[in-house]
Amino acid sequence: MAEFSKLAEPGSPEELLVRRIDRTRLPRHVAIIMDGNGRWAKSRSLPRVEGHRAGVAAVRDTVESAARLGLEVLTLYAFSVENWKRPRFEVWTLMNLLKEYVRKEREALVENDIRFNVLGRWRELDPSVVKEIETTLEATKGCQGMSFNIALNYSGRCEIVDACRRIVSDWAAGKRADIDEETIGRYLYTSGQADPDLLIRTSGELRVSNFLLWQIAYAEIWVTQTLWPEFRRKDLFDAILAFQGRERRYGGVTQTENADFFHSGQSGQSRH
Ligand code: FPP
Repeated sequence: MAEFSKLAEPGSPEELLVRRIDRTRLPRHVAIIMDGNGRWAKSRSLPRVEGHRAGVAAVRDTVESAARLGLEVLTLYAFSVENWKRPRFEVWTLMNLLKEYVRKEREALVENDIRFNVLGRWRELDPSVVKEIETTLEATKGCQGMSFNIALNYSGRCEIVDACRRIVSDWAAGKRADIDEETIGRYLYTSGQADPDLLIRTSGELRVSNFLLWQIAYAEIWVTQTLWPEFRRKDLFDAILAFQGRERRYGGVTQTENADFFHSGQSGQSRH
């Protein structure tokens, strides 16, 4: 259940923002491209990995706030298949941070009824990481609150390839489904979850970086200059307020434009 009262100190700037959020029109799924850890560290003359270390606090605050707001799904992009190109020590540190996070947060996730999922080819990671993930998946499998996805060793294109491969192998085994959007959605890593309504990217970059390519078809995109280690609930509330101010048309026309058609007899233009 949403716990808006625990989201902000009375009288704080966060409280002013959270009060403006319309609880009946929350995005069901928020996906975040966490970016800017390296720049955060550089601006403090620290090694890049210190940016990732500082980013863990932002992850904690975001997961807690998203669950308290009552979001259905939160997805964080933690490690892409392309990230293997980074220096070995950086990859090693990231894997250790992830392992530590998954182990340390296990109890808190269960207590807060948060269901943990991992998107990507995570079974190819080091066995010590796989083991911590499996334990947390098992511990949270009965949780009924927010679903919290971490995208790990993830690529949107690989996800579509993996879905096609599983469809073909099911066909070969006699489990045949029509090839349509519903079937493809069911074979993706996010099977059963709502598609993201809101995609957030930190650090000002204007790219989707191979993230949830199928699922973000109609997502609203919100980009902040804030670097990930500094991202906090205030930024999440800002993003949700911006989302609630947008008009989503899914390729159609606005309700007003539709009404105009009937009043004036002129056709509304289809928009994307
Ligand atoms: C992008 O910043 C960030 C990442 C590739 C990793 C994100 C990882 C964390 C926040 C830490 C661990 C995560 C969890 C879920 C516990 P960048 O390094 O590309 O930044 P830059 O563009 O400024 O160099």
